[in-house]
Amino acid sequence: MSSIPDVFPLRHILSASQFTREQIETIFAVTDQMRQARDKRQALDLLSGRVISLMFYEPSTRTSQSFQYAVTHLGARFVGSKNAGEFSSAAKGETVEDTVRTIASYDADLMVMRHKVLGSVAKAAEVSPIPIINAGDGPGEHPTQALLDLYTLLRLGADREETTLVLNGDLKYGRTVRSLCRIIIRYWHGAPCPIRLVLCAPDAFRMNNDILAELRRAEISFEETADMEGALRRADFFYQTRLQLERLTDEEEKRRANLVATDFRLDDRHLALMRPSASILHPLPRVNELSPELDADPRAKYLPYQTRNGMLVRMALLTMILRPDYVAQL
Ligand code: CP
Repeated sequence: MSSIPDVFPLRHILSASQFTREQIETIFAVTDQMRQARDKRQALDLLSGRVISLMFYEPSTRTSQSFQYAVTHLGARFVGSKNAGEFSSAAKGETVEDTVRTIASYDADLMVMRHKVLGSVAKAAEVSPIPIINAGDGPGEHPTQALLDLYTLLRLGADREETTLVLNGDLKYGRTVRSLCRIIIRYWHGAPCPIRLVLCAPDAFRMNNDILAELRRAEISFEETADMEGALRRADFFYQTRLQLERLTDEEEKRRANLVATDFRLDDRHLALMRPSASILHPLPRVNELSPELDADPRAKYLPYQTRNGMLVRMALLTMILRPDYVAQL
């Protein structure tokens, strides 16, 4: 009998809050299958003949490249604009709504969009005749990152017993941590959550109240602190984040932020404080907040484990949206 739960319709992927536990479990079961295939370097021709539009209005390495590789490994093709803010007609004032309707008219099967303005991807989805995946919308959300982060946590055993997950750094502007909190809420909706969240940030970069309120409503156990060393000692999973300087416009604010951020840097001095069984995660890119000295430590899971999971989860999502028939027969 199939290990994949009942299939369900997936269309636009806009927010980590949109998923049910059953949907997430299905995505992760398909992701496991993608892993088995890719580990054997097996070609998958599931999306042969399909064309995916990749529209990135903000810089990206992992999200854009992992989607490109996901598309390629599935036998589809992609057409895209890497610097759409400058090189598409957005620079002349065209709306995302007109852009998506235009590209859909060329027979694109799905669009992946990253935009610097909060809510832009949702606006495009409202009029889009094709599925849209939010690849990050300003300070808003990054739902596919949340899926890959939760997949990484679960496959590293985060649900086997009570665990402490520390989110450290810029929790105010970091969209990955916002989406991660939301997917944890959805995954453990109506069931006891084994993860205790420690939200560790300088005062100026605390998690926003909307997410705190959602965590309270969902009865997810969490605490806020600025004591990074204390948090490190307790962490089973330590999720480090980058200061999102691109979200700050004031130069003085950027200078002050950089000064504060040095207190939240993770380097080899911290390794002795951490549990031997702990895992260090980071959505990447990193700047100064995560020292490359840590890369060789067996607790460092951000590269290549977490990054590769990004490609595999995105392969699963593309397949589930465009080939529900394939998923149904698994
Ligand atoms: N994690 C992530 O979104 O990385 P990129 O900005 O490089 O896509």
